[in-house]
Amino acid sequence: MKETADREIQRVAVIGTGLMGHGIAQAFAVKGYSVNLLSRRNESLRKAVQEIRWSLNKFVEKGRISSDEAEAALSRIATTTSYKEAAADIDLAVECVSENIDLKKVVFSKIDEIAPSHAIIATNTSTLSVTEVGKATGRPEKTAGMHWFIPPQLTGLIEVIKGKDTSSETINAIMDVSRKLGKTPILCKKDARGFIVSRILVAVFNEAFWTLIRGEASMKEIDASAKYIGGFPMGWFELVDFVGIDLEYEVSKILHEAHGERFQPCLELTEPLVEEKKLGQKIGRGFYDWSKGRPCIPSELAGKYDIERCWAVAVNEAAWMIMEDVAEQESIDVGMKLGTGWPSGPCEYADKKGLDMILDQLEAAYSQHKTELYKPCPLLQDYVKKRWRGKKTGKGFYTYT
Ligand SMILES: NC(=O)c1ccc[n+]([C@@H]2O[C@H](COP(=O)([O-])OP(=O)(O)OC[C@H]3O[C@@H](n4cnc5c(N)ncnc54)[C@H](O)[C@@H]3O)[C@@H](O)[C@H]2O)c1
Repeated sequence: MKETADREIQRVAVIGTGLMGHGIAQAFAVKGYSVNLLSRRNESLRKAVQEIRWSLNKFVEKGRISSDEAEAALSRIATTTSYKEAAADIDLAVECVSENIDLKKVVFSKIDEIAPSHAIIATNTSTLSVTEVGKATGRPEKTAGMHWFIPPQLTGLIEVIKGKDTSSETINAIMDVSRKLGKTPILCKKDARGFIVSRILVAVFNEAFWTLIRGEASMKEIDASAKYIGGFPMGWFELVDFVGIDLEYEVSKILHEAHGERFQPCLELTEPLVEEKKLGQKIGRGFYDWSKGRPCIPSELAGKYDIERCWAVAVNEAAWMIMEDVAEQESIDVGMKLGTGWPSGPCEYADKKGLDMILDQLEAAYSQHKTELYKPCPLLQDYVKKRWRGKKTGKGFYTYT
């Protein structure tokens, strides 16, 4: 039997039909893949197909695909409640069930029992160990993380995560299929919590939260500075509301446990909101009132918070990732731009600004506040010492000729 690397992925199983599952099934079907979509209940499958149909119609209305292409995509999706039907003849399974390690292990082992030996099993987990989920199978080398962004049928980024046992053939196959889906894959070389994009985002959220708690700036001053000076698509509080305060709360605790005091979460701010069920946009109330739509953040408030400190924290976290061999600078930059719409990646920003300036910013904040969040990464210190200070010296995170 041929190994996965020599085979083209053609048939895919998507397990789970929630927010992510149906969008992922659609993304594969639109690009010509045959998809078996599995859920526990027929009712969920009917709802998922309805949602896919609605989304495909939007694609047609916007001229992205023709109505014939939409019909063809829909016809490529077979729905089932049986693992035997879903996984018997596939090259790749993408698991998208709820974020629970025991549940994901059960799903992985069920697919493993049925899927052909060459098939890859990928998890869309945001926070769990890809390695641990992979161990639930007899083919850990053919398991990996394939982390999509919401909404999966539209966003251009996929984080591909190498678990401890994942083979390079498996990584190559997932990178390759991601490109064929029209996405840009970035490689997370280690199974490190938060992978790439969430890890940098949570560091920046913590910076915004602690700044508010210390009374240095108001929520709207921070958000106005992020939007109107930083050029970020949303203010940080606005973005946390948008993704869900409950989600941020859970992820921030996981990152704290995994990466230590640098990720000290600001629970005094988020916990009461979670307890009061003020979870953000989905509820209509979080940091902001969303009952009448997107919150108003006046541009006059911009400038009262120094946005350079967010950049410094983001650059510092990028340096940690590079030092720990979790990701390359290009992957980090592409991830932040495609995954969250940042105007620049942190590494390219640092090179433009000057790594010495970033380091100064961190050292000043560290000596003032004495919190690990600002403690400069040794890699950044080393670069500055070596005069790798960015574009002005011809070398920083990147080399300039
Ligand atoms: N929502 C996001 O923004 C986002 C982004 C990237 C990754 N993820 C990850 O994707 C995964 C799914 O997230 P979601 O937002 O789609 O969740 P969701 O709650 O919308 O959907 C979860 C799905 O899992 C199904 N499920 C639960 N138990 C099951 C079982 N025993 N067998 C089969 N299906 C079962 C549910 O019926 C539901 O369809 C999670 O691991 C999450 O961390 C989510």
